[in-house]
Amino acid sequence: MVTFSTNINGVDREVDLVGHESAVDVIRGPLGLTGTKLVCEGGVCGACTVQIEGKPVVGCLTPATAMADVEVVTIEGLETAGGLHPVQRAFMAHDGLQCGYCTPGFVVDAVAFVDGWRAANGDIAPDRHEIANALAGHLCRCGAYEGIYRAVVAACLGEHDGPEVEPARVDAEAKVTGAAVYTADRVLPDMLEAVIVRSPVAAGVVASLPDDATSVVVDLLGEDRVVRWAGQPIAAVAAESLAEARAAGVAILPDIEPRPFVIDPAAAKVEGAPLVFEDRAARRLAPSSAEGAAAPARWSGNVRKGAPTPFFASKAKRRVRHAREEGSDRLVELTVSTSPQLHTSFETHCSVADWSDPQILRMWISTQGVTHIADELAEHFHLEHDQIEVISDFVGGGFGSKLSVTDDMIAAAELSRLARRPVRLVLDRGEELTATGNRPGSHTEISMLLDDDDDVAAIVVDAESHGGVSVNGLYGLLCMLVYDRSPRVAHDQDILTNAPPGSPFRGPGGPTYAWALEQAVDQLAHQIGRDPISLRQQWDGNERRQGLYEWAAALDVWTGRSKTGSTAGRFRRGVGVAAANWMYMVDPDTEVRVSVQDGRLVVSCATQDMGTGSKTVLARAVASVFGVSPVEVDVRIGRAADGEPHGPTSGGSRTTASIWSTAVEAAEDLAEELGTTVVGPEHNGAEASAHRGGDRNIRAVPMTMNNIQIGRGFSGAVHVSEVEVDTRTGKTRVLSVHGGLAIGTPYAPQLATSQCEGSIIQGIGLALYENQILDPHTGQTLTANLEDYRIPQLGDIPEITIHFHEPGWDHVPGGGVGLGEVATISPAASVANAIFNATGWRPTDAPVRPDRLLEGLR
Ligand code: FES
Repeated sequence: MVTFSTNINGVDREVDLVGHESAVDVIRGPLGLTGTKLVCEGGVCGACTVQIEGKPVVGCLTPATAMADVEVVTIEGLETAGGLHPVQRAFMAHDGLQCGYCTPGFVVDAVAFVDGWRAANGDIAPDRHEIANALAGHLCRCGAYEGIYRAVVAACLGEHDGPEVEPARVDAEAKVTGAAVYTADRVLPDMLEAVIVRSPVAAGVVASLPDDATSVVVDLLGEDRVVRWAGQPIAAVAAESLAEARAAGVAILPDIEPRPFVIDPAAAKVEGAPLVFEDRAARRLAPSSAEGAAAPARWSGNVRKGAPTPFFASKAKRRVRHAREEGSDRLVELTVSTSPQLHTSFETHCSVADWSDPQILRMWISTQGVTHIADELAEHFHLEHDQIEVISDFVGGGFGSKLSVTDDMIAAAELSRLARRPVRLVLDRGEELTATGNRPGSHTEISMLLDDDDDVAAIVVDAESHGGVSVNGLYGLLCMLVYDRSPRVAHDQDILTNAPPGSPFRGPGGPTYAWALEQAVDQLAHQIGRDPISLRQQWDGNERRQGLYEWAAALDVWTGRSKTGSTAGRFRRGVGVAAANWMYMVDPDTEVRVSVQDGRLVVSCATQDMGTGSKTVLARAVASVFGVSPVEVDVRIGRAADGEPHGPTSGGSRTTASIWSTAVEAAEDLAEELGTTVVGPEHNGAEASAHRGGDRNIRAVPMTMNNIQIGRGFSGAVHVSEVEVDTRTGKTRVLSVHGGLAIGTPYAPQLATSQCEGSIIQGIGLALYENQILDPHTGQTLTANLEDYRIPQLGDIPEITIHFHEPGWDHVPGGGVGLGEVATISPAASVANAIFNATGWRPTDAPVRPDRLLEGLR
């Protein structure tokens, strides 16, 4: 053992090393400073940045011994007697964060940059390139980059040297100071650490687990003992430390008899290919990659056919066939594809379970649905509702991947039950990028035909979803819902392979359908010499989107766009447009309670905030009634337990739409009951609750998941992107994106803007960078780290402008609907159309890697 002294945040501490710990291991572990986050574990993302002797370093690559006898500053140590550092205030004011998991690293590095910049340059603003260079070692999956740019500029200008300003979100201070405690940070007395043992092979039959007397073990495999993808959970093991748990996991890996497998979807369709699910009984085990269970379907080998979505299907096919035979320029036929996109939540899936008291299971979980998960776990473990409590105070991103009960939850609970001690199970980055789902890849053949009036005459879509072992990746049907009402048909099918399963990802199927449909529309406009916006205006019956087309058509970047393929030279600029269509959903069972406790307003709801801002939305709703600042309202969410008001799951863009009007109603009832909006200790104990309820504008639809109803009207988006293509290197740079959203009233405009900016950034990732790669010989994920799985970084971010088109939602309580999904659908397709406009070459396969672009231009 090695012992050394360090001075951390001004306090002298002794550190005992037992092995080769990194700085972040020690800081988060024995020193207990969990504000510093561990995300990529490889020096790529910057989340674990701390200052050693005033110099920012990444804690995961810095040996702990580098902290010996020097001064170390973590996020917790930036606050001085004068209050927060100006950079912290700037991040709060300019909303340089969403989930907050990357924030400590950004802030620690930005403090060093801003202090140095101001000392060298005085109070002048650095440009975007200088900021991007300074913070190049940081990543943010939520895409809060625009806010980060604004915050750094404001701090450099000295705008936040004065007293604290009102934060954009009510939990911002906790996130910029490291005080926010996420599930992965949770430490309970006498807690064990656990890991999941995973299959190293893509297919095989697993022997029984060997006896291991030294650790606590649970089996996670089904009765058939079959594994179908590399990374599939087999068992979980708990021990006194993470290192011991990992060693025990290696020791208990059972023998696996390998089976033939197939990774490539094209090969999986060939007759005689190894079957991923060998018979009807096995097919029932296939997980769904969408929200909700899969409907019955016909299978043929590894192909699972969804029911076609027809509207005069024969006529549509006949028209397309004739047009093809005639070589009509009014017909477009494209074959396009997308790679699986990984959610890449910065806080990995993790659970802390405490079942040491057999009468109550208490779980801290990084989840998007505390209420829903509590219900599911109660059912799974045969518990009454008063025997389970699920807590999720802060969530480091989810994007759809944290909607359902996962193996880490089951394993942590089972291990805790066995050990009668608390157990923490936190996935590492490799597991997160392998085993927690993805937006399934796709292969689409789309035919779209116009008549002589430029109206849509037919659409035929053959859509293949590549969700590995999962099913239900239907997206072709979404192509049927947008333009006109002409003859059309979509054939959706899942191609099963021995690859990791997909899971719902922000607007499931949305960006995938738009990549095909919106490029087909663009191509048609090009072929018949029409403006792509005016063509959409001609077809689109959605009044709200019509407003967006008018806005988009008037943008300078659009009116100044060059003719497709008309520019020459190495660097070519182009502008593209794409539109999006999505549903409006609510949770009709949502309940919000507003009360007075300790003389303060308190708002409670068993929902959660994964960076989308539900805490702030609730606070603003109550504050709007009582005429106070949102920070004066205590928000109590993230806890599902007996007696807590039911809250919505953060899926289907339904949280904000469900909670705002309910909170306003509860607040109004309380104000009426009190007879005043001035609240003090004399009102302690007063409370009022409101229930969202269905309303006459809600459509009754077959439930695909509990607590969802689909409202009347479709939301819409239009994105206009400008790119610059380097025809020598094949790189595409997105210069600007204008995002228009027809979602009614944004309840927290600054946060809504940030959400929409993040959606655009994830769309740029899908279009240009994000590429899951599996080893064809083993099925193992090769892109299981943030070096090889490339997500957009600060320097990739274009200038982004967000426009909200508000009319059209008067029938909705509160006047606004969800936006997280609709905002995600069209950015990638708009980038593809911009590349086409720049070069005259259509990029059909996402991501548009440099090699693909160079090959295409040749
Ligand atoms: Fe950056 Fe969520 S705010 S990862």
